[in-house]
Amino acid sequence: MTRVAVLKGGRSLERQVSLASGARVEDALARLGHDVVAIDVGPDLVTQLREARPQVAFVALHGRGGEDGTVQELLEVLGIPYSGSGVHACVRCADKMLAKHALRDGGLPTPDWVVLGQIGFHELGMAEALADIGQRLGFPLVVKPVSQGSSLGVKFAASQEELPAALIAALSYGPRVLLERYIEGRELAVSLLAAEDEPAQALPIVEAVPRDRQFYDFAARYEIGRTDFVCPAVLDHALGERVREIARSAWGLLDCRGFARVDMILGADGPTVLEINPIPGLTETSLLPQAADAAGVSFDEVVARVLASAGTR
Ligand SMILES: Nc1ncnc2c1ncn2[C@@H]1O[C@H](COP(=O)(O)OP(=O)(O)O)[C@@H](O)[C@H]1O
Ligand SMILES: [Mg+2]
Repeated sequence: MTRVAVLKGGRSLERQVSLASGARVEDALARLGHDVVAIDVGPDLVTQLREARPQVAFVALHGRGGEDGTVQELLEVLGIPYSGSGVHACVRCADKMLAKHALRDGGLPTPDWVVLGQIGFHELGMAEALADIGQRLGFPLVVKPVSQGSSLGVKFAASQEELPAALIAALSYGPRVLLERYIEGRELAVSLLAAEDEPAQALPIVEAVPRDRQFYDFAARYEIGRTDFVCPAVLDHALGERVREIARSAWGLLDCRGFARVDMILGADGPTVLEINPIPGLTETSLLPQAADAAGVSFDEVVARVLASAGTR
C-alpha cells in the first residue's frame, strides 16, 4: 500500500475536467488498495502536501500550472515522486510552438505554422505582415493560443478578412498565438501508456467522426453533439501502424513518461501531428480510457501503470 496524493482541480480553464479525471483516479487507486489523499490544488498546495506526506503524487491536472511543468517542478523541489511526464516534457508539450519545433526537428509531420506574439505585434509591427502570413499558410487557417488545451480559443479564419478577429480572440487566452495551416482530413488520437522506462504502448486509435458530414465544416467542428468517437478507428493496417509509429516517435522526441495522447489529422498527404497532451483526460468520456478499453486494459490498470511511471525518474 502506497500513500498517494491525487492532485486535481487547480485554477486552469480545464479545472472541471481535471476534477472529473481526479475523482476517477481516486476511486481506481482505492480499489488498487492504496491510501489516497485528494488534493484540490490551490495556493495552499505546499502546506497540503506537507501535511499529507504522500509517498508519491498522481498528477491529474490539466492545463496551465498542472500540465506545463510548473507543478512537476514544485514536486521535484519537495522531493515527491510524481506520475507522468517530467518538467522538460511538460514544458515543451504545453507550448505548441516548442512542441512543433521538436516534431519538425525530429522529422515528424506537423502542419506549417507561424507564431505571432505581443512582442511581434507591439515592438516589431508584425501586423503589417498578416497578408504574407495568410498567403504562406493559405485559407482557411487555424488560429489558436500557443498554450491552451481542450480546444479553448481555437478559431478558424476562412479568409484574410477574418484573420484579425480570430487573432484577437486567441490572444485573449495568452500572449502568443499559433497560426497553422488547416488540414482537411480525419481526426485521430493515439493514446500511449508506459509503466516503467519501457517503450510506450500505443493503444488503438480513436477517430472523432462528425455526426452529420453534410454540415460538418471547419467552422462547425465544435458544436456539441456533432462528434462520435470510433475506436479502434477503421484504417488500413499499414496506415494504422504508421499513425501509431508517429505517435510513439512523438512521445520519444518529447521524452514523455507514463501516459500521453497525440492528436493528429489524417490529411491527403498522410498523418500530421497537431499536439501532444502530456496529461490526457481520464474522465468517463475521455479518449485514453476508451482506447485502453478497446485494448482490453481496464481503467484500474491504466492508473496502476501511470502511477508506476513515478518510479522512473
Ligand atoms: N491545423 C489544423 N487543421 C485542422 N483542424 C485543426 C487544426 N488545428 C486544430 N484543429 C482542430 O482543433 C482541435 C483542437 O486543436 P489542438 O491543436 O488539438 O489543440 P487543443 O486540443 O490543445 O485545444 C483539433 O482537435 C482539430 O479538430
Ligand atoms: Mg487537442
